[in-house]
Amino acid sequence: MRVLLVGTGGREHALALGLAADPAVTQLIAAPGNPGMAAIADLREVVPTDPASVAALAVEAGADLVVIGPEAPLVAGVADAVRAKGIACFGPSAQAARLEGSKAFAKDVMAAAGVPTARSYTCATPVESDRALAEFGPPYVVKDDGLAAGKGVVVTGDLAEARAHAAACGRVVIEEYLAGPEVSLFVVTDGEAAVPLLPAQDFKRAGDGDTGPNTGGMGAYAPLPWAPPGLVDEVMASVAHPTLAEMRRRGTPFAGLLYIGLAMTAAGPRVVEFNARFGDPETQVVLALLETPLAGLLHAAATGTLGAHPPLRWRPGSAVTVVLASQGYPETARTGDVIVGAERPGIIHAGTARRPADDAVVSSGGRVLCATATGPDLAAARDAAYALLTGVELTGAQHRSDIALSAVRGEVGLPG
Ligand code: AMP
Ligand code: GLY
Repeated sequence: MRVLLVGTGGREHALALGLAADPAVTQLIAAPGNPGMAAIADLREVVPTDPASVAALAVEAGADLVVIGPEAPLVAGVADAVRAKGIACFGPSAQAARLEGSKAFAKDVMAAAGVPTARSYTCATPVESDRALAEFGPPYVVKDDGLAAGKGVVVTGDLAEARAHAAACGRVVIEEYLAGPEVSLFVVTDGEAAVPLLPAQDFKRAGDGDTGPNTGGMGAYAPLPWAPPGLVDEVMASVAHPTLAEMRRRGTPFAGLLYIGLAMTAAGPRVVEFNARFGDPETQVVLALLETPLAGLLHAAATGTLGAHPPLRWRPGSAVTVVLASQGYPETARTGDVIVGAERPGIIHAGTARRPADDAVVSSGGRVLCATATGPDLAAARDAAYALLTGVELTGAQHRSDIALSAVRGEVGLPG
């Protein structure tokens, strides 16, 4: 099977590792890819959000399967363009990707499907948003309706900050605050059949102790030792299947990766968000534990044959990933610095590039790389990930020192 993988980040590097390890894959092309993938994939230039270019590359490469990593190409209709060429594509249509592309749309689908989520209002004017903020009270949750690369959400106790974010975004979803630890559950689906991956937890805030601004994600671990037994079955029954049924009912079935972001509240799991693609950096840990060949799984989802796919097999143990971010991230990101120690197993590249002058690997984005390790238990995986990170040098770089720490200590509490 020839596979074309679209995207450049850490999630795509993790997907590339999984795809390259599948014995059915005879050639892996990553477009545009990143220097970390060069050893396992042929790198090709493409504008990921341009449907015609990606479809043309898929045809030219003779791809049997196209896997689209990030959300922007999906929302732009890249999966539709690839499928129009008769090529199997893992990733939802533009219509279905609105589950991520519009928070208001996602809320509408959840309401129609009876999915448990925060009560919310979609607001287009200051009068509307002030009314919603007053009704819910602090902490205030204000979400840009459109795609914002993980930075469109403000959660704050400060009314002035909440009002300012609403005004800056225009159309926003304002919702009740959900208290409780967060879970990311990835569901592979062909629109009808649905297969959950291992639940993971992401660390969204920049600083230790969940302080500082929201980021794209500063680390992750899987599985979750504290998750109640039956959690995955409950979420499949109360969230995944009703949502997929509602999307079919609307004539826009969702096929690809449904990312269910949950808060474990006192009243039970509640949806915080949907995404239409694998999460980053949770993918790094989930795929590190997946033993089932990845290309076969994604191909089954892309061709409507997931119902006949054998049950997933998982490696025993745990996985932890710690993100190394550039100085100033997320507000600004210092780039162009040489990275020492980036080319080792377990170092997953995200914002890296090769400097043309001397071929050195340099930083090129906010989240630069992720040190990813597995171990027989969470403590061992965590120690191994931090040990790996110690071998990397990057001027001014920052990372959280508490990824997976409270889970290792048994201190993740479920409310209620
Ligand atoms: P989102 O882009 O919707 O995932 O939001 C980003 C982050 O904001 C989430 O991972 C949560 O940490 C936080 N968040 C979003 N919605 C809520 C909510 N209703 N209650 C509490 N925290 C939230
Ligand atoms: N880990 C958060 C995201 O991928 O949106």
